[in-house]
Amino acid sequence: MEEKIIIAIDGHSSCGKSTLAKDMARELGYKHIDSGAMYRAITLHFIRNNVNISDTEEVKAALDGVKLSFVYNELKQTSEICLNGEDVAHQIHEMIVAERVSDVAALKDVREYAVEQQRAMGIEKGIVMDGRDIGTVVFPDAELKLFMTADMDVRAKRRFQELYEKNPNITYEEVMANIQMRDYIDSNREESPLRQAEDAVVLNNAKMSREEQLKTALGWVKERTAKLAT
Ligand code: DC
Repeated sequence: MEEKIIIAIDGHSSCGKSTLAKDMARELGYKHIDSGAMYRAITLHFIRNNVNISDTEEVKAALDGVKLSFVYNELKQTSEICLNGEDVAHQIHEMIVAERVSDVAALKDVREYAVEQQRAMGIEKGIVMDGRDIGTVVFPDAELKLFMTADMDVRAKRRFQELYEKNPNITYEEVMANIQMRDYIDSNREESPLRQAEDAVVLNNAKMSREEQLKTALGWVKERTAKLAT
């Protein structure tokens, strides 16, 4: 049997990281963890509890009340995040969460809390994790690191399509502004900013279909696992 590896996928907002991670996990029989969902669920908890994020003590106390877990949904063939036992997979993608998540994810205590759990999930390998700092901070020794990019308007169009289906009041301009703001905060924060790991393979999927990007990425997995076997 082939040795299981850790696959780290990083990149800007709305590049389709989770879609690729999900597809790869399904094909390889690996676990998929969407680390952004963890930051989003924490943000949802903070919004519900009116947490003042400039108050470190308040943030620490609020984190004590957060329990995150991933539950496998057979029907959707994907793992979904639960916040204190509640399935919040839909709520974490609402605009109110998207507007605040980058500020919450920039907090040192929040990152420490999330990274510790992410590392624990990778102990047995056989995992595809997507996010912003997976190849640089969470799993610097990951056997395969992908850095995904796509042009800004391609990303905005994709995300708009997704959100519009759930909320027809949303505008393309709003979605574009949110992606630009998140890119800026994610890349310029002090704590674990979004960076391409030196040993990452770049995947620009602007002109690729879902099947093409999966095929390309699985080719890299094959290469890496073959190297490990020698
Ligand atoms: O991937 P996403 O859009 O669901 O991520 C939501 C936010 O969480 C994003 O603005 C940046 C942050 N994030 C992060 O800082 N580190 C990660 N590993 C994953 C996400």
